[in-house]
Amino acid sequence: MPASSRHLLKIEGLTPPEIGQYLDLAESYVLLNRSGKTQRDLLRGRTLINLFFEDSTRTRTSFELAGKRLGADVINMSVSNSSVNKGETLLDTAATLNAMHCDLLVVRHAQSGAPNLLAQKVDAAVINAGDGTHEHPTQALLDALTIRRRKGRLAGLVVAICGDILHSRVARSNIHLLTTLGSEVRLVGPPTLIPAEAASLGVSVHHSMEQGLAGADIVMMLRLQRERMASGPVPSAREYFRFYGLDRGKLAYARPDALVMHPGPMNRGVEIDSDIADDPERSVIREQVEMGVAVRMAVLDLLSRRGPRNAR
Ligand code: CP
Repeated sequence: MPASSRHLLKIEGLTPPEIGQYLDLAESYVLLNRSGKTQRDLLRGRTLINLFFEDSTRTRTSFELAGKRLGADVINMSVSNSSVNKGETLLDTAATLNAMHCDLLVVRHAQSGAPNLLAQKVDAAVINAGDGTHEHPTQALLDALTIRRRKGRLAGLVVAICGDILHSRVARSNIHLLTTLGSEVRLVGPPTLIPAEAASLGVSVHHSMEQGLAGADIVMMLRLQRERMASGPVPSAREYFRFYGLDRGKLAYARPDALVMHPGPMNRGVEIDSDIADDPERSVIREQVEMGVAVRMAVLDLLSRRGPRNAR
């Protein structure tokens, strides 16, 4: 589904100009947010509903902030207090929200493909805020914006994505985006946490941090997603940290100016040492959160221009 469609469901399939359009517009929103100015007339009269079937701190809050900064009416639907608990299906819930003339529907769901299903049934523009192990497109866009602002480019950079790749929708979206824009992507983790299809994704696979991080420009750490693990592919947090947790010793394998990223939430002492996570010289984790608001403003802005109201 191209960026010129009225939904944002995945990064896979987007072209460099389509990704660039999101990033360039987001850049202007970074500057606007820092200047303290607002643009509340842009989405005035539009309704954005956050429909999160899984927990979230960063994504849901930043979509709410982004919508409000552009003047939209923002509703955070509390799924735990909704009629979903009385057996209402996903499609019936969506049809109900659709009848209220929602313009933008931001969806997070444990099932891969749920936002895609909704997009076929509702008039609203659907934005995937993370679906199962499939994709988390706005996370990849904000990661790319963070890297581009710090390094000036994405092409030619070596990006090591480390940890639980198997269960990570963040990794999948980043792999598609970074390889599309010309980065060299390395996946680093134990064999049990690397997906079988890795070889077909245009990346290299490494099972040692020393090999995977050698000469890397970007070290992107991922959380162990235990909620998606049927059994225990990782023996213990302590043993995992010893081999795959990022500490000063392992970071030294990367370039001296390598940046450390993490989409959050972090499990300190499991995949990353606090000493690294909180080091402003190396960690851009807080900056990623800031870029998240700008990227989501850009996504809401672009999709609302293509939405059903403009088609009528
Ligand atoms: N990175 C991310 O999606 O964080 P949340 O789960 O807090 O939204």
